[in-house]
Amino acid sequence: MTEENKNQKNPDNKPNTTGHEWDGISEYNIPAPRWWLITWIICIIWAFGYWIFYPTWPIAGGNTKGSLNWTQQSQLAESQKEIDAKKATHLEKISHSNFAQIQKDPQLMEFALNGGRAAFKENCAACHGTGAQGAKGFPNLNDDDWLWGGKIEDIYQTIRFGIRSAHDKTRSNQMPAFGLDKVLKKDEVEAVAEYVLSLPSKASHNAAGEKIFAQNCVACHGVGGKGNSSLGAPNLTDAIWLYGDTKEDLLFSITYARNGVMPYWVGRLDDNTIKQLAIYVHSLGGGE
Ligand code: HEC
Ligand code: HEC
Repeated sequence: MTEENKNQKNPDNKPNTTGHEWDGISEYNIPAPRWWLITWIICIIWAFGYWIFYPTWPIAGGNTKGSLNWTQQSQLAESQKEIDAKKATHLEKISHSNFAQIQKDPQLMEFALNGGRAAFKENCAACHGTGAQGAKGFPNLNDDDWLWGGKIEDIYQTIRFGIRSAHDKTRSNQMPAFGLDKVLKKDEVEAVAEYVLSLPSKASHNAAGEKIFAQNCVACHGVGGKGNSSLGAPNLTDAIWLYGDTKEDLLFSITYARNGVMPYWVGRLDDNTIKQLAIYVHSLGGGE
């Protein structure tokens, strides 16, 4: 008996060994459990099935095709086809529907919002910010303050043709450079800036400025400076300033005029994408 067998807890219960021994170590003779053997045999049979039905044997220039002709590529192509078909139906529907019809269809709306969000990140975020929050000179599209109108059709037109863009149908209206063109003298610019600056607060207004405003500015900005979205003239009473809220900012706007440019997208983006963008921008919370 080997050292090891002596040391076992139950020395009388002699283990069944194969009789082989190396350096005092012997080998048990225990057959694999039956369940294991059966599983193993099933696996072998299963493998034969695989050889027949699926690509298996690497043979020069590829592998055996298998009787199902299945490949990962064909599976991918299959699911891509399903996605494309779904997309095509949605796109088709969008191109044949007006905004009111799209808004009534929750599935179509979800599709359009997702598409619009993606297209916005890609094409518009550089100027308007990823969250469309805007920056100095680039309007915030989340608030309900609109230069050119916040109805979905207005937004659609703005995106298609731009503002003071190179397109023939662009929205355009030029505020004169009152200081530069010497329409107003320096102290008149100063007075009207004081007046405009005081508009949101309803504080006492600069009387000289008020007069100058009535003579030079109401044609676009409206009586009392309420703005006019058919002319892209901002409301000056709402404390939302595109070009900043300091007196210097206002003096600059009135002296030189800003006349910001928004590029046109018709022809650069397909109409479906522009529609989705209009729906997305309108949904941001500020749509009229
Ligand atoms: C090169 C910069 C630039 C890019 C890119 C740009 N915009 Fe603009 N956008 C502007 C500017 C500047 C204005 C304001 C023009 C003005 O002063 O009247 C504006 C105005 C707008 C307005 C009108 C806001 C209002 O108050 O009426 C909408 C809507 C708009 N942009 C949407 C978009 C969308 C959607 C995209 C992407 C497809 C986009 N913009 C890309 C610069 C840009
Ligand atoms: C011909 C039309 C027109 C006239 C007249 C006009 N404006 Fe404007 N004004 C605009 C437009 C359009 C804008 C927006 C420019 C832009 O978006 O880049 C604007 C912008 C401004 C802004 C910037 C507002 C902001 O949010 O930062 C100020 C301030 C302003 N105007 C004051 C005046 C004053 C004061 C007068 C009269 C002395 C005047 N405007 C006359 C069309 C006009």
